[in-house]
Amino acid sequence: MANVNDAYDIALNVIERVGRALGASGFVSISHAHASGISYNNIGRPGLEFIEELVEKGARVRVFATFNPVGVPLDPRPLIDYDVEYSEVEEQHRIINLLIKMGFHFSATCIPYILRRPKPKEHLAWGESSAVAIANSFFGAYTNKEGGPLALLAAIAGVTYNAGLHIATNRKPKIQVIVPRPENEVDAGLLGYLVAQKASEIPAVQCLGGWRCGFTCFKAFAAAYASFSHNAHFVIVGVSPESGKVEGDNKIVIDEEEVEMAREKFSDVNVEDVDVFYTGCPHITLGEVFRVIRLVERAKTIYRKKYEVWVGVPGYYILRRWWVKVRDYAMRRGVRLLAGTCPVVMDVRKFVDRVATDSVKAAFYLKVRHRLNVKVSTLEQYLGLKRNG
Ligand code: F3S
Repeated sequence: MANVNDAYDIALNVIERVGRALGASGFVSISHAHASGISYNNIGRPGLEFIEELVEKGARVRVFATFNPVGVPLDPRPLIDYDVEYSEVEEQHRIINLLIKMGFHFSATCIPYILRRPKPKEHLAWGESSAVAIANSFFGAYTNKEGGPLALLAAIAGVTYNAGLHIATNRKPKIQVIVPRPENEVDAGLLGYLVAQKASEIPAVQCLGGWRCGFTCFKAFAAAYASFSHNAHFVIVGVSPESGKVEGDNKIVIDEEEVEMAREKFSDVNVEDVDVFYTGCPHITLGEVFRVIRLVERAKTIYRKKYEVWVGVPGYYILRRWWVKVRDYAMRRGVRLLAGTCPVVMDVRKFVDRVATDSVKAAFYLKVRHRLNVKVSTLEQYLGLKRNG
């Protein structure tokens, strides 16, 4: 019979070794682990067998634990008329069942902070880069960008190594970056991309005229920034809870021309020529889904055209009583809700070739990982509507 402590010992041992390599001063207790890299497309059979072995050795999570989107929609109905065969569905569900057996919450989302809001200065072990940046920079919690297996092991051990962003003095911004005010989530994502490219140290971002773009833009900035930077933390002056004070004279200015040049990089096709518009990278919530549906309805009434809009939403939504009603209501309006997945982690080439998206992160990965033609655009631009119009 398996010794129930086996998995715990393995987890602690690996974390200790990683920490030692990084010069950590021991362990730090965590209150939430979020595992990424659990899509079967990414980890394959070796990953599945690794998780299976942990479960056989008695793995149980010791803290609140969630996991990232997976490689297939958890409800296939919204994409049914594409008539595409998914491969490895069984293996993907096997991984999910193993995680649940360990005590993970059935989450399948990259916005774990909606399931449990991080508190300032509490320690986490999160693996999804966009969520890590939000936890650090919006909530003021402490987490490094962990590899998928490490976050999983931290969930089992209840601790992680005490290094990097777990130490307050390592979190101070070292460079000031002045940026123009983003008008929408696409501009915010482009700024996240540019700041990551230009600032090699943790930046304090000062937005000219103040950051008046809300959490949607913060999320878009964080997702793009974390995709391109080795840092998993930034400060947006006036929004982030931590101080944006930078010692010394280290300063960069980003202007609107650079933002336009960055937009060109993610503009392989015209927005009128795409197969689909994707929003929901990172995932969006129910209220935002209704906003998308309303916009599509308005455009249909005006232009009498057919639109194709995909939306990434948390996987646990499929367990909600309202799911089927909302899913079908959206589908009747040409809005397909992808529960617990997203085109970046799916085998998206089986469905489409050209994608417009309001997410710079999604545009980058769809272009590089899946070799799709992409276009960054707001949903309103895709629908031919004016913002707030
Ligand atoms: Fe989430 Fe997929 Fe984007 S996992 S952050 S929607 S690439």
